[in-house]
Amino acid sequence: MARLTTLKIQAMKDQGEPIAMVTAYDATFASLIDAAGADLLLVGDSLGMVIQGHDTTLTVTMDQMVYHTQMVARGSSRALVVADMPFMSYQASVSDAMRNAGRLIAQGGAQAVKLEGGERAVPAIESIVASGIPVMGHLGLTPQSVHALGGFKVQGRGDEAAEALVEDARRLEAAGAFAIVLETVPGHVAQRVTEAVSVPTIGIGAGVDCGGQVLVCYDLLGLTNGFTPRFLKRYEELGRTVQGAATAFVSDVKSRAFPGPEHTFE
Ligand code: KIV
Repeated sequence: MARLTTLKIQAMKDQGEPIAMVTAYDATFASLIDAAGADLLLVGDSLGMVIQGHDTTLTVTMDQMVYHTQMVARGSSRALVVADMPFMSYQASVSDAMRNAGRLIAQGGAQAVKLEGGERAVPAIESIVASGIPVMGHLGLTPQSVHALGGFKVQGRGDEAAEALVEDARRLEAAGAFAIVLETVPGHVAQRVTEAVSVPTIGIGAGVDCGGQVLVCYDLLGLTNGFTPRFLKRYEELGRTVQGAATAFVSDVKSRAFPGPEHTFE
């Protein structure tokens, strides 16, 4: 099956078809989420938190992103694979940004990259796009700036902050971004931003008016213990299922109920 392209993603937006993006970090989950019909698979640097167990995304390296992107690309065939550019892989210079974006495409097998920030990210976005690599922007709560923002807080509250977000979104579109993630902003602000640009906005904690929605797969599957922010819908509680299955296995081993004769070679 042919992969979706950024042209198709724009056509979906133009036709009013909501765009579904889900994070994935390995081939097994990528294959399942791809088969479920997700349009975009995001190899998010959220892997620093949900896979590696850190408190922030800041420790994730380029080598780790390439490694996880390779797995997601191998496990999927339809969705467009977007790889996150990790902290400090694009902020220090435009040449860093281009070299590292190139690695995620050439070595990782992604079809697009994502990076965080408004005005300050424009030179990097322009250069990456000019080299033929599609770029997704990311505004609002940008987790790589968690210390500057003073925590994982709602962004864009108040007229001035809302207007700044709208301006940043216009700048990202002008720089060539094919889509913009809007994270943790009030619904009416996301609506203003969405109406101000012609590329799709993809919301997470940004209300009902975005062109699409994204969730972290471990969150939507209920694998992240105790993580229940207002914006999240947990479609399953797989954490309980996984723990239950592991508990049953341990108990069977202790009681010698497993393995039985049916699991034993003659
Ligand atoms: O890293 C990530 O998973 C993300 C999404 C939350 C948009 O950036």
